[in-house]
Amino acid sequence: MKKGFILLALIFCASLLFADGGPTPETGEVEVLHWWTSGGEAASVAVLKELLEAEGHTWKDFAVAGGGGDQAMTVLRSRAVAGNPPTAAQVKGPQIQDWAAEGFLTNLDDVAEAENWDGLVPKVIADIMKYKGNWVAVPVNVHRINWMWVNPEVFKKAGAKIPKTWAEFEMAAKKIQAAGMTPVAWGGQPWQEITVFETIVAGVGGTDFYNKTMVQADPSAINSPTMVKCLETLKMMKQYTDPGAPGRDWNLATAMVIKGEAGMQFMGDWAKGEFTAAGKKPDVDYIATHAPGTSKQFLFNVDSFIMFEVKDPSAKEAQKAMARLILEPKFQEVFNINKGSIPVRMGMSEDPFDIPAQLSMKDFTASAKTGDLVPSMAHEMATSRAIRGAIMDTVTAFYNSDMRAKDAAAQMANAVRSAQ
Ligand code: GAL
Repeated sequence: MKKGFILLALIFCASLLFADGGPTPETGEVEVLHWWTSGGEAASVAVLKELLEAEGHTWKDFAVAGGGGDQAMTVLRSRAVAGNPPTAAQVKGPQIQDWAAEGFLTNLDDVAEAENWDGLVPKVIADIMKYKGNWVAVPVNVHRINWMWVNPEVFKKAGAKIPKTWAEFEMAAKKIQAAGMTPVAWGGQPWQEITVFETIVAGVGGTDFYNKTMVQADPSAINSPTMVKCLETLKMMKQYTDPGAPGRDWNLATAMVIKGEAGMQFMGDWAKGEFTAAGKKPDVDYIATHAPGTSKQFLFNVDSFIMFEVKDPSAKEAQKAMARLILEPKFQEVFNINKGSIPVRMGMSEDPFDIPAQLSMKDFTASAKTGDLVPSMAHEMATSRAIRGAIMDTVTAFYNSDMRAKDAAAQMANAVRSAQ
């Protein structure tokens, strides 16, 4: 009789515990919006899915194809406006602040405190992830923009030397062209064009000029002879691209270098993810080196995830698990090896990483000391979307028309001024 009563009482208490407001169930679903759909990118994001599912959570994939994420951001905004955002989304740079200011985001301070994120993430990056001092995003990696991806066989066949300056680039490109191959694998999409353009701005103009134009977006620095030179350098490259360039996806451009159809590509180190996915080895099958004139600089691009405010306690648990896993050493190692980036978590061993990643790790620290660690404009780390859009529209219009470089510099300054 007494035993039966105790059992009933236990069942009653348990039912109270799991009713609304009681302890949360342990597993739930996260719907993740991202744009990682190329071979290397898909292999990388699969790592996070596996780790999350190993803890019993469910990963609902919401991939929006389109390199650089412009399409993904349009879809994200329309879903949020319709009151139906995903639970997690790949969002970067100053946009994180915008989403937080609009009250969409989950505060991640409890995970951050438990895991000591402040002690693990470089301050320059942690600051981007916080809104009013609270963690509202979790960083995934550090990509570098100013790389040149070289097929050594193509260079050898053409008798060309790997360029360190833009003058040397022209000499090499002429030789490759004369040997019947495409010098530059070009992806003719606006975000790719500004990716190459900002690398030229850093290399031709130097770090101060880059900061004045691409970070502070100062119209008088933009409308200048140095900017004209940068634009002319960009236009000069066009004659070394192939007729298939317009509209080409970045990973298809990388494939041209992998297959030996083109000599080089200028792209961030997500391109390395494609070489890795194709089983290619650095310094054997391909060479990764600084884009001309940028050996000291590190144009950084940090991927990150924001979590949208949700009511369902099990979804909250899944969001927290995802946030925690992203900064754990296991994910940081495997993901970044596949992705081509370097860990954002400090103190990770360099040993499992390849030569370009080790170079990137060394340069990240060195450039931070010399003031040459600068945020990427093209990848939304530096300015508002409106200013990036103004620069992008002008550069693309200039690259794809007969516009004079002098007029393009003036137009860019005006467009930036009205976006401010
Ligand atoms: C960048 C992003 C990278 C890579 C690239 C191409 O903006 O940070 O992770 O995915 O786009 O899609």
